[in-house]
Amino acid sequence: MAQEHLIVFDTTLRDGEQSPGASMTREEKVRIARQLEKMRVDVIEAGFPAASNGDFEAVRAVAEAIRESTVAGLCRASEKDIARALEAIKPAQSGRIHTFIATSPIHMEKKLRMTPDEVIAAARNAVRFARNGIDNVEFSCEDAGRSELDFLCRIIEAVIKEGAGTINIPDTVGYNVPEQFAERIRLLRERIPNADKVVWSVHCHNDLGLAVANSLAAVMAGARQVECTINGLGERAGNAALEEVVMAVRTRQDIFPCDTRIDTTQIVAASKMVSGITGFPVQPNKAIVGANAFAHESGIHQDGVLKHRETYEIMRAEDVGWNANKLVLGKHSGRTAFKARLKELGMEVDSEQVLNAAFARFKELADKKHEIFDEDIHALMSEDVTTPEHEHYRLVSSRFHSETGETPQASVTLSVGNAEHHAEATGSGPVDAAFKAIESIVRSGADLLLYSVNAITTGTDAQGEVTVRLSKAGRIVNGQGADTDIVVASVRAYINAMNKLSSEPQRLSPQGDV
Ligand code: KIV
Ligand code: ZN
Repeated sequence: MAQEHLIVFDTTLRDGEQSPGASMTREEKVRIARQLEKMRVDVIEAGFPAASNGDFEAVRAVAEAIRESTVAGLCRASEKDIARALEAIKPAQSGRIHTFIATSPIHMEKKLRMTPDEVIAAARNAVRFARNGIDNVEFSCEDAGRSELDFLCRIIEAVIKEGAGTINIPDTVGYNVPEQFAERIRLLRERIPNADKVVWSVHCHNDLGLAVANSLAAVMAGARQVECTINGLGERAGNAALEEVVMAVRTRQDIFPCDTRIDTTQIVAASKMVSGITGFPVQPNKAIVGANAFAHESGIHQDGVLKHRETYEIMRAEDVGWNANKLVLGKHSGRTAFKARLKELGMEVDSEQVLNAAFARFKELADKKHEIFDEDIHALMSEDVTTPEHEHYRLVSSRFHSETGETPQASVTLSVGNAEHHAEATGSGPVDAAFKAIESIVRSGADLLLYSVNAITTGTDAQGEVTVRLSKAGRIVNGQGADTDIVVASVRAYINAMNKLSSEPQRLSPQGDV
């Protein structure tokens, strides 16, 4: 049976980034976008250009870098937002404007303070304005999951007449359950006279843990675009996880009338990249991308899998990119091999300065650790290597002392702007002492919300990847650092977070007041 195409719209860089602490730099967004493109994602929502200049630049950089996927910019239903988004996606080979307005009674009355007729007029105007700038326009009814069906029919019919090509039905607050959500999609497609002129899309949040189930039910009811994020990242409990939607549809081709074009062997790499960049770890038992997703602990299961794999496995680990852990480079690898491997991993480096810094870090690591894996390279391409010029704080040197029965001590030298500063401190452990020493130099007053260490690969010579989450004046940032010495990794992570706190401007949230 010829399968219909299920469009994968990835919003890791926009909705995913709305997770507190998950904000990404422009370079990080481009790196993720390249991996999404390699995975053959159809549409990459790169951000909300009207939110801030930083967001605008990031969307533009993604639009410049990506050639195979469509790049979308989100905008509220306002001409100003749309004009800004059109400008940001201009360099894209294929661009899309995604405009939205809230349609539920509670949002219209309490948030927008607009009447239903005013909302329809704003939506029509937004789509018309967007269509004057670009052919590919998507319209979303924010909080459609709690909107009145008759009103949805009215507004959707009107925006299709204005030229919207994709209609997205978000369950913004994750309130729906699968049967009811599917029925909603079915009814809208039946009742709206021009429904057959558009692609129907869904965008489900995970507040009740039903985002993937709701998305799949909607696909059964005729949706042909699913909006999702890597690892299910997103506002509050997150969005539908791309890897789960894609693998459910691929694995159950006996019941789904459509399939995606995703290269599933790229899924684990994408998951690790997003987790590394945002500092949001993946739980071990997470479907598809969790470390235990394909591990069999019980003897009965192991026995069954050894006799015949399909007794307990419905998917093959290698089909989603597990076991692709290649020994890539070593101590004797040269700059050319290193550059080529970066390219294969979707981390093309244009600047010589950045390449030199990354290669120097690689050589340093290869001296300590004989086998360098892809994961090590991902960690190595962290913020302080890729954007040294953006760094206000840089680690010059550090020294730690910890001994049984003695108080741990740390001394740290940082360059701050053009000056060097040195500080010493004691603490309950070397990491605590190091953070106190750094804090006595930078005096940020930030609160430490999270400190976590993860071994990047196996073995005691593995690099530890540290995530530090800091909060200051309502802003939350994550810093990452990796090193074979976890105290040094911790110091790098803290400094990385400090740099983000000192550089990232405040941004608007797309779902705030219009
Ligand atoms: O959850 C939501 O409603 C959204 C829209 C902007 C699509 O993210
Ligand atoms: Zn959303």
